[in-house]
Amino acid sequence: MIIMSNDSIRAIAWRDETLVLLDQRYLPQQETDFVCNKLSDVIDAIRLMVVRGAPAIGITAAFGVVISARDCFHQHGDQWKQFINADLKLLAAARPTAVNLAWAIEQMNGLVQECSSADPCDILLQKAQDMLLEDIQVNKAMGASGADLIERDSQVLTHCNAGALATAGFGTALGVIRSAFEAGKIKHVYADETRPWLQGARLTAWELVKEKIPVSLIVDSAAAHLMKQGDISWVIVGSDRIAANGDVANKIGTYSVAIAARYHGVKFMVVAPTSTIDMSLATGDLIPIEERSPDEMMQIEGHYFAAKGSNAWNPVFDITPADLVDAIVTEKGVIMQPNADKIRKLMSR
Ligand code: MRU
Repeated sequence: MIIMSNDSIRAIAWRDETLVLLDQRYLPQQETDFVCNKLSDVIDAIRLMVVRGAPAIGITAAFGVVISARDCFHQHGDQWKQFINADLKLLAAARPTAVNLAWAIEQMNGLVQECSSADPCDILLQKAQDMLLEDIQVNKAMGASGADLIERDSQVLTHCNAGALATAGFGTALGVIRSAFEAGKIKHVYADETRPWLQGARLTAWELVKEKIPVSLIVDSAAAHLMKQGDISWVIVGSDRIAANGDVANKIGTYSVAIAARYHGVKFMVVAPTSTIDMSLATGDLIPIEERSPDEMMQIEGHYFAAKGSNAWNPVFDITPADLVDAIVTEKGVIMQPNADKIRKLMSR
């Protein structure tokens, strides 16, 4: 594959019969691999956020199905199919909000059902590899479509990390930023640090510095103040799940940014493949919101800074109503001012 100059980061690879993940818990200080030999390694990697970001979780799970099928075949021979279902359920439960996880498992399971009782590894591995390459192509297509919406010399704001690290490569929101920068349309990127896990400070800033795209970090609560200065044209984010009416689940804090954007006349773009759209949920209220350990909020690298004895609530996603979204960019096309009708038409293309 040809890697463009603004596309140097790959965090998911199949090497020597194993799944190798760039361990995002240690970025940007260390670039360490996390090797998955068995299904429980894959589930841990998703749960502990070695790998994170909706499309990346999905692709990782696809390779998890390969590993599970390999183990089932080694243990049970031609009866392997009877044993894989329990594994797929465990894998699907690793994180609740990103629908790409269930989507990828469903894709792989469709092929599992078509397999004979013979060794399924090569067939399933080919499918997982295809899904990985397709994700990169989809991101490049969305990158070009999203960049078309942006005027020359724009400054933009992004939240969380929706980059190469959150996908098979190139990124969704950062894919648009990469393409628009390459086309001379973006002069500066502001990145919310993204409390509490600091995906913005640690991952988005790392990606943009690596690609030589000018970036300034801000604390999440500076976003409204930044927009008030008047020189941000778009907020550009990814998504973990989009409901059938266009409501968008994304990293906690996205909703506040969307409200601030509307108030200040800043446009709000969501970049996500159609595998992120969940037509089974009518509105965003039905999307399960993951809550993670309060420790993620109350300590940094194992050191408590919050007052001992205080409780904490740590929902890690929120829902931005479709009304606050100006554009949803997918590989099947762009929807302006999304609603249920427009989403239904897009999904039937
Ligand atoms: O908790 P995370 O880091 O997995 O959350 C990731 C996000 O919220 C991203 O913005 C989203 O998955 C889109 S990634 C292309």
